[in-house]
Amino acid sequence: MLDFLKKQRIVVKREPQYIYVDRLKRFEGTVVLVTGATGSIGEAISRRFAVEGARVVLTGRSEEKLKSLQAQLSQEGLAVDYAVMDVSNEHSVAAAMQTVANRLGGIDVLINNAGYSARSEKKYLHEQTVENIDNLMRVNLRGVILTSREVVQYMMSSKQGRIIHISSIVGMQGKVAHAEYAAAKAGLFGLMKSQAIELGRYGITVNCVSPGLVPRETASDEKLSDSARKTVLDKLCVPEDIAHSVAFLASKEAELITGQNLAVDGGRSLGLKGD
Ligand SMILES: NC(=O)c1ccc[n+]([C@@H]2O[C@H](COP(=O)([O-])OP(=O)(O)OC[C@H]3O[C@@H](n4cnc5c(N)ncnc54)[C@H](OP(=O)(O)O)[C@@H]3O)[C@@H](O)[C@H]2O)c1
Repeated sequence: MLDFLKKQRIVVKREPQYIYVDRLKRFEGTVVLVTGATGSIGEAISRRFAVEGARVVLTGRSEEKLKSLQAQLSQEGLAVDYAVMDVSNEHSVAAAMQTVANRLGGIDVLINNAGYSARSEKKYLHEQTVENIDNLMRVNLRGVILTSREVVQYMMSSKQGRIIHISSIVGMQGKVAHAEYAAAKAGLFGLMKSQAIELGRYGITVNCVSPGLVPRETASDEKLSDSARKTVLDKLCVPEDIAHSVAFLASKEAELITGQNLAVDGGRSLGLKGD
């Protein structure tokens, strides 16, 4: 294909797709707890569940950010709760979950989305400080283990539950200057599979969604089109793409799916395109 035509196919900025979502209402009466709800992907996931009728609990470390998102969703006609919860602190996790379960009568769905890649650090592993590595592991892997461990007690008794970890295609494939992030995200696959085996008898499914690059507002058009070109579909993800897949895995339609990883990445993780 001629270069200029190919360039035109590259879709850098996409509008979120919401087709009849508000009519689905698959999660009425369901309590959904989202970690890292104030980030870009967490917000889209929270909005998606709220639109479908769930009782969503936004969680994160900053009460100010949580209140602001709650107010924004309220302006959109979506009533949500929030709870301050630092996933790196076991006491904070236990206290927040207990408060939520007492207030709302349980927790049906846990979305483990809190995490960061320290993209700005861009260091090879041998240059990385132990402190940075520990901090990243504490949130991205240990944090997911802690929340998963805690939530199960609220799901076991009701013999149902959905746990979804947000991993990354970096965990599937590795990435230069992201070794500790890749290790943490790959660790989620082992966690997910073991949990899926352990929890199946209680009607609880555990799955992962692995996003490709979900660009930030600050990224340059040049960087974005370069990243889009690396995907098979010549398109980058928007947060709503991730939310759609998460909602599917939490839905009744996905009740037989457990221990699986779903890459939502425009085909980026398939390998080299040859161009
Ligand atoms: N964006 C991408 O391209 C991409 C690609 C693949 C995978 N992912 C994964 O998707 C998830 C969300 O990414 P994002 O791009 O939406 O990130 P983001 O916008 O930076 O949001 C991260 C969220 O995590 C929360 N958080 C951070 N540390 C926390 C802690 N100790 N306890 C509780 N919450 C904490 C932050 O809230 P507070 O700071 O207020 O606590 C924030 O709400 C992450 O797990 C990320 O690794 C992202």
